[in-house]
Amino acid sequence: MNEHTLSLRLERVAAHVPGGARLADIGSDHGYLPVALMRRGAIAAAVAGEVALTPFHAAERTVRENGQALYISVRLASGLAAIEWEDRITAISICGMGGETIRDILDSGKARLSGHERLILQPNGGEQPLRQWLMENGYRILCEELLRENRFDYEIIVAERTGPVIYTAEQLYFGPLQMQGRSPVFLAKWQRLLRHKQKTLNHFARARQTLPEGKVQAIAQQVRWITELLA
Ligand SMILES: C[S@@+](CC[C@H](N)C(=O)[O-])C[C@H]1O[C@@H](n2cnc3c(N)ncnc32)[C@H](O)[C@@H]1O
Repeated sequence: MNEHTLSLRLERVAAHVPGGARLADIGSDHGYLPVALMRRGAIAAAVAGEVALTPFHAAERTVRENGQALYISVRLASGLAAIEWEDRITAISICGMGGETIRDILDSGKARLSGHERLILQPNGGEQPLRQWLMENGYRILCEELLRENRFDYEIIVAERTGPVIYTAEQLYFGPLQMQGRSPVFLAKWQRLLRHKQKTLNHFARARQTLPEGKVQAIAQQVRWITELLA
């Protein structure tokens, strides 16, 4: 993967960035996403935010080598501290991190959100707490995508602050639009997870005394939801 050829995962993220956007890519690593989008003329400007020094320098190099320093600003900052009001950001991508980390980045950076930005989020696990945060903060989920690459399942969640909206516990767990769409990749993911969770429960049953009952109950609840979903 590089700024010329994105992974399928980042290519699908790119597809949700509105044309002409002013994009903030938080946790940009090499900066491949904003640089690829700028090379295609798909965005007007970008901020590439990075908290760690090595990826920050890598992003600077990608931007410099592509002659985009006038349009893409690379900033060493944690989360949304990378963006300023003057950037007039219209879309924010946060990809390739746990859902809880993405949630924490959004929550601690709330004051920097105008509420008009489109959020394009690609959590690696922890989707449920992320969706919970979106609901609690008035974000409606506009689009959800699930893809499989290199034997990993990746979710993309696109949201805008057009709520209030209420999702059920099951919708927060599976994704409200995924549940509706029931795509083959979605059903295959939950078939795999069901087998995995049933194995875990069997394992727990043998070691019950040493395990917190709450944890066992939570997994049993998930197994019931998944079984109902797949029925
Ligand atoms: C696995 S990489 C994903 C890179 C790219 N977004 C992608 O999806 O391919 C995660 C990146 O997020 C950065 N990161 C983690 N927490 C961050 C934070 N609070 N603020 C900015 N960057 C962060 C890490 O330094 C790392 O470079």
